[in-house]
Order: sequence, then structure tokens, then C-alpha cells
Amino acid sequence: WGAAGHLITCLIAEPLLYEPAENAIAKLLPESANGNLASLCNWPDEVRWMSKYKWTRELHWVNTPDQDCKYDYNRDCHDSLGRKDVCVAGAINKFTQQLSDYTKNHTTKNQNTTEALLFLAHFVGDIHQPLHAGFRSDGGGNNVSVHWYRRKTNLHNVWDTEFVEKALKEKFNSDPTVMADSILNNITDQWASEVDSWGLCRNNKLACPDTYATEGINLACRWAYKGATPGTTLGDSYYISRFPIVERSLAKGGVRLAAILNGIFDPDAPQR
Ligand code: ADE
Ligand code: ZN
Ligand code: ZN
Repeated sequence: WGAAGHLITCLIAEPLLYEPAENAIAKLLPESANGNLASLCNWPDEVRWMSKYKWTRELHWVNTPDQDCKYDYNRDCHDSLGRKDVCVAGAINKFTQQLSDYTKNHTTKNQNTTEALLFLAHFVGDIHQPLHAGFRSDGGGNNVSVHWYRRKTNLHNVWDTEFVEKALKEKFNSDPTVMADSILNNITDQWASEVDSWGLCRNNKLACPDTYATEGINLACRWAYKGATPGTTLGDSYYISRFPIVERSLAKGGVRLAAILNGIFDPDAPQR
């Protein structure tokens, strides 16, 4: 997602955190964040160009084979040089493990612990953007040029940024907190019956990125790539039919981020 998508994901997660997680997170955040995770959820995008964080550049997505519409960790989770586990699913596993070790061993925090939290919050958002599990051959839609109304852009950017920005402007008074609150309302009523299962992983695992990535490529094939071949003009009919998918994906990202953090920082709490 773009900056607004990440902010909204974390604004959805924050009110769903239990107190132990809220407190642990406040301790890990830098002073300047004022206990506020959402303000830093886009930090990994801001540092991805710095040489110190070069190693994180390919952690934002996972690519799947052209037209396959399936995801397989062992086949797909690697970087462009073929190094295993370097993808968004591997990153979510790694940072979840790192934070969970930190909690269990009562280790003192260091800069890596803080960064692990920020990376985890960001990547759980990213894996819920369907084209972050998109086809390798077109760079997850980055190389699919389309028109968004009258402007030239690419399909990946439409899903990262354009949907969210248009909705913010037209429906939510350009205020990400208003959009997050509206999604939180859907979570407590319209989607209430399914929301409980969103946060659950098989075998009591804290995070299950393979499930998220599988949902992602399915949505990418059914909604993102569909009707958006190179050169297409995407307008109202694409926006109106796909926007509900974008909202649900942001909602799932927020709910799952909260569930993962609650599981990490309150290991004795029953999994919801
Ligand atoms: N962003 C940049 N490159 C990407 C890719 N190959 N897949 C998804 N998102 C990307
Ligand atoms: Zn993206
Ligand atoms: Zn990202």
C-alpha cells in the first residue's frame, strides 16, 4: 500500500489491541511516537532506499508464476537472486519470531526490536494488498500500464494508492481516521460473523502469512488483473466494483495485525 493504506491498516489495529500489547508497544516505540504505532507504520517504505536497509528492499511482496493464481511458499518466497525466505511472507514469520523471542526471554529492547515491530506492522499491511502477491512477469502489476480515469499510471499503483486516495477525498473528508473508523464500524457489524476467524491461524501459530498470500493472489486474479490488461482505461465501473475488495483487504490487514500483536505480547491470552 501507499502511505495512506499503511496508516489506515494500523489505525484499524490500534483499538483492537489488548492492554498488554498496547503497553509493550508503547515501550518499544521511540519517544517521538507518543505511544502511537500508526504514525510509524510507513517507516519501512521511507528507509527502503537507504543502503543500511538494502536487505529489506524485496521484503514488501512475494511474486507468483504468471497466470497460475496460486502461491507456494517453497516455490515463491525468494528474492530476485533466488535467496530463500526473502519475501513478505518470510519477513512476517521472521519478525513475529523475533518479537516473540524478545517477549518470552524478557530481553532488554534494542533498536532491532523496535525496527522488528515497525517492519511487522508494515508487512502485514503490504501482504494484504492483492498485487503484493501478484505475477513475477509483470512486477505485481507495476509493469501493466493503464489509465486511471484520464491519468496514465500502472495497475500496481492503482491498488497501492489511487483507490484509497479517491475514497478518502470523496467519502471520508480526506481524513484517514474517518476512513479507519468507518471500516472499524463494518468490522463490528456488517462483517462481525467472519471477523473472528480472520485473526485465527491453524496450529496456534501467531501469524499465517501463507494464508494471507493465498488470499492475495486469488483476489489479484479475480479482481485486480481481471479487466485491466495493458492499455485499459480504468474508471467508475472498475472503481465501484473493486473498492469493496480494497476496504475488506485493509480491514483484514488491521484485524490480523492486532491479532498477531496480541498473541506476541500476551502469550497467555486465549487466541480469538
Ligand atoms: N513493488 C516493486 N516490485 C514489485 C513486485 N515485483 N511485486 C510486487 N510489488 C512490487
Ligand atoms: Zn505496493
Ligand atoms: Zn511496503
